[in-house]
Amino acid sequence: MEEFKTIVTDDGSLTLLHPILKDSYHSLQGAMLEAMHVYIKAGFEGVCLSLGLGLGLKPHRCISVLEMGFGTGLNALLTLNKALQDGVKVNYCTIELYPIDMKVVELLCYARNIALYNSYNTEHELLLHNAFIAMHNAPWGEAVEILPCFTLTKIRADINDVVLHANHYDVVYWDAFSFDTQPHLWSNDIFSKIHKAIKPTAILTTYSAKGEVKRALRESGFTVKRAKGFGTKHHMLIATW
Ligand SMILES: C[S@@+](CC[C@H](N)C(=O)[O-])C[C@H]1O[C@@H](n2cnc3c(N)ncnc32)[C@H](O)[C@@H]1O
Repeated sequence: MEEFKTIVTDDGSLTLLHPILKDSYHSLQGAMLEAMHVYIKAGFEGVCLSLGLGLGLKPHRCISVLEMGFGTGLNALLTLNKALQDGVKVNYCTIELYPIDMKVVELLCYARNIALYNSYNTEHELLLHNAFIAMHNAPWGEAVEILPCFTLTKIRADINDVVLHANHYDVVYWDAFSFDTQPHLWSNDIFSKIHKAIKPTAILTTYSAKGEVKRALRESGFTVKRAKGFGTKHHMLIATW
């Protein structure tokens, strides 16, 4: 297979260009900032707020995240960072069919980007870096404690074939390649499966605001609203049960 190409995005963080699909893993306007906007702020924070978590109200509650597409691990690392900041516990389950090579992972310096953005010291940056490497080295199909606040389960499978627990997840990050690149990953069948797997209080967020995506989510039982998209994108989608 051809090599992955790395691209420096507008916020200084890297993204990858998939060698065959020719689609990028993140927005070129800022990989880290886009992930924070779509998944951390709209998804994770949205659900924590609605559950009264991070405000000391239910300190023992654990948030279950489901991610479509582990990819570079950026969403997972940003979620771990958020869990540390807010003092919440996270069970993070991510599905990935084509994991990237460790040689490519070593080029990504997301711990540095997050440390710079949050003015962390080098010790805290190292903690994030070690967590990031541990995520990528974690065995598939097992729950692995990356930090006491963050347990990761990576499932190496096609999303179409995965069987999910019913009524289980609090938040879903739908981060497949675009509808134009992989339309079959935005289908009614898959979203109906996701709808059964989430709790009635859950939120699904995605960077896409395509009409076809909105329709498929609605036909699968979700209530869908548009929110401001990242960068120059007008909209993204927030779907609830
Ligand atoms: C946009 S990227 C995900 C970016 C990732 N969330 C991150 O933080 O870097 C989409 C991911 O979906 C994966 N993928 C593509 N087809 C898949 C399938 N049928 N099942 C599971 N994962 C798939 C790709 O390998 C890729 O890693």
